[in-house]
Order: sequence, then structure tokens, then C-alpha cells
Amino acid sequence: MARRPVRWGIIGCGLMGREIATALLRYVHLTGTEAAPEVVAVSDINPASMRWFEENLPSVRQATRDYHELLANPEVDAVYCAVPHHLHQQMYIDIIRANKALLAEKPFGIDEAANQAILQEVSSHPQVLVRCSSEFPYFPGAVALAERVRSGQLGRIIEAEAGFWHASDLDPNKVINWKRQSLTNGAYGCLGDLGLHVVHVPMRLGWHFETVYAQLSNIVRERPSADGAMVLCDTWDNADLAVTASDQGQTFPLRLSTKRIAPGQQNTWFIRVVGMNGAVAFSTKFPKTLETLTYTPGSAQAWQQQDLPYRSVYPTITGPIFEFGFSDAILQMMAAFSEEFLGHPPALWACVTPEETRRSHRLFTAALASHESGCAVALDEGSAHG
Ligand SMILES: NC(=O)c1ccc[n+]([C@@H]2O[C@H](COP(=O)([O-])OP(=O)(O)OC[C@H]3O[C@@H](n4cnc5c(N)ncnc54)[C@H](O)[C@@H]3O)[C@@H](O)[C@H]2O)c1
Repeated sequence: MARRPVRWGIIGCGLMGREIATALLRYVHLTGTEAAPEVVAVSDINPASMRWFEENLPSVRQATRDYHELLANPEVDAVYCAVPHHLHQQMYIDIIRANKALLAEKPFGIDEAANQAILQEVSSHPQVLVRCSSEFPYFPGAVALAERVRSGQLGRIIEAEAGFWHASDLDPNKVINWKRQSLTNGAYGCLGDLGLHVVHVPMRLGWHFETVYAQLSNIVRERPSADGAMVLCDTWDNADLAVTASDQGQTFPLRLSTKRIAPGQQNTWFIRVVGMNGAVAFSTKFPKTLETLTYTPGSAQAWQQQDLPYRSVYPTITGPIFEFGFSDAILQMMAAFSEEFLGHPPALWACVTPEETRRSHRLFTAALASHESGCAVALDEGSAHG
């Protein structure tokens, strides 16, 4: 297939800005895709962060501290924006108004009001493609899990659990950053940071959230700043949500958890679904392993483990004898966005839609209210969605 250029601008040249830029450099790894992406412009208030792009990406022709200049650049077709959460609302709105396609970052607005303001702008610009990032569903194990659940072979769902766990915050001496302060990260704390990753697949499985009961923990309340002085760390470290979910009118318990302090866990994203006729589980802790159980009444109840071949949603040159990793998932997500931008229907998983971010904000806002009141809070999505 002949390749068509997609010229990217990146706003926010930190951890994720660099990750996405290198995924785009590797786009040639994909086969059968049409986009020929290149990063032509970058913006960050910190010139040192932009220097890495200028030194390593020869395609970058504009580096500016003022993102409005990037938005005025007619060479830029699409923008990836990865900045602290308190900046999402204004920047996302400005990007959409500039008629640039937007791949945004979660939580897609620091709170529900910011999310609603962005969604208003999205609906005023229906011609602009707007999506939010979430890469873990592209792991072959997540894809296989979804296929199994969607096929109905698990039977009536008994329960499900999904989570995203980190552990580096167990170290009380870890230097604070903007993600650990509610002013810049938001009142959701770890839910704003990690929560959309956890709800993406449950939403795509067609499940609705009926009620939520939340337990939120702020365990480490002070951390050292870069100069060594102790400062307030006022975000939730861990969030445990007990959700009543529904699937085609039948309710079941769904446990959702996001943790920054889960000892021993390094970027562990997982989901487990248990039904009357079978069960399936996948965790990035064992990134190529799918666990399944098949049951017929009276038969043995035996979990099986299967090593999955490298099999991606968007084909690549990697052979099936190899295995899939984090940067592969990022590349797949970039393919989903870029190919949709060029008018191709998404293969299996589209990136998170603005409407899905709205649902996640509703859930996280209800979780805050639940923790505050000590009671479950109703969301009633099943009745709202019919
Ligand atoms: N998809 C994922 O797996 C994933 C992982 C980590 C973070 N994130 C999300 O990505 C976003 C950024 O997180 P990060 O880890 O890259 O943060 P980071 O702190 O590493 O990078 C943020 C960058 O934004 C820049 N910035 C701040 N104000 C700016 C402005 N006015 N104009 C331009 N640049 C500005 C900072 O200088 C910094 O370089 C957040 O929304 C976060 O939730 C997503």
C-alpha cells in the first residue's frame, strides 16, 4: 500500500512525548498500514526537553516554548499532547479549535468539569478526530481475553477484576513530582493517573457501571522535593473500587483497582473474568501468557497456561515466534490512531473515545463521593444505555 504522510506535532516533551516520538519513528515496522508519520514540530516550556527531539529526530523543523505557535503551523496535521493534568482542558480545546487531530492523554481533563468542557469542544468540531491514549489492550493476551469474553463461551459472568499496579512509591524517599500533588494531578489521585487504563477493556466488553463503592488510601503524605525539603503529597496512592457492573442486563461484581503502592508490582496491568462455563485471565506481569479455564458441569476445573505468539492487531514484520512488549503496544495504539485519521475503520480496538472518557470521569467522580460518604454511589449506566 502506498504510504500517506501524517505530520505530527508533540506538545509536552517528557516521558510520554519521547515514547510516542520513538514509536512513530518505528512505524515502518508495521505492514499493511497506510500512514507515513513524521514528527515535524515539538513544544515544551523546558528547552532541555525539546533538545532531545532536535538532536534525535531530523524531521523536527519547529521547536517552540509556546504551543500556540505549533498550532499555527500549517505543516502539523495531528497533535499528541502529554502534559500535566491541570493543563489538559485549555490545551485540548486550543488544539481542537486549531483543527488539528488530537491524540490526548488521560485523564482527559483534570476533573469532570474540565472533561465536559473538552467534550463540548469535541462536539462543536465533528470533523476533528479526537482520541485518548490507552495502550495495554493491544497486548495479544488482552486481545485473546476479549475475544473469549465476547464469544459468550464463559457463560454467565460470575465476577471480574481489572487493575493497574505500581510499586515505586513504596519508597518514601522517592522525590515528588506533579503526579503526586492534587493541584496538578487532580483530586482523583492515582485514579486520574491510572484509572482509564483499567476501565478501557471493561467498557469495550460492553459492560455498564451501575454502582460504585470506593476505598481510597493516601499512605505517604509527604515526600522530599528535588531540593530535599519535605512537601505535601496529597494525592490518593491507592484506589479500590467495588463496582456493580452489568452485561446484557445481568449484574456481577467488578473489582477495579489502581495502585501506586502495590509492593513488587512494576507496571502490572491485568484483567480476569470468571463465568459459569469458563474463565480467562491476562496480566502484563507474564506478558505472553494467557490463562484459561473451561468448564462443563461435572468436568474437572483446571486452569491452563498458554504462551501466546506475537500476534498484533495491526500486522508487523515481527514473526510469531517472538513476544510482545510495552513499546509494541504503544506502536499498535499509534497505528490505530493514524489509520483512523486516514479514514480506515479501526481494527478491533480504536483508541479511547471522548465519550468513554466521559464515562470514566463519571465513575471516578462517583468514587470520590463514595469514599467521602462511605456509601455506594449509583451510576445507573445500564438503564441509561438501555
Ligand atoms: N499512556 C501512558 O501509559 C502514560 C504514561 C505516563 C503518563 N501518561 C500521561 O501523559 C501525560 C504526561 O505525562 P508524562 O509522564 O509524560 O509527564 P512528564 O512530566 O514526563 O512530561 C510533561 C511535560 O510537559 C511539559 N509542559 C508543562 N507545561 C507545558 C506547557 N505549558 N507547554 C508545553 N509543555 C509543557 C513539561 O515540561 C514536561 O516536559 C499525563 O496526562 C499522564 O497522565 C500516560
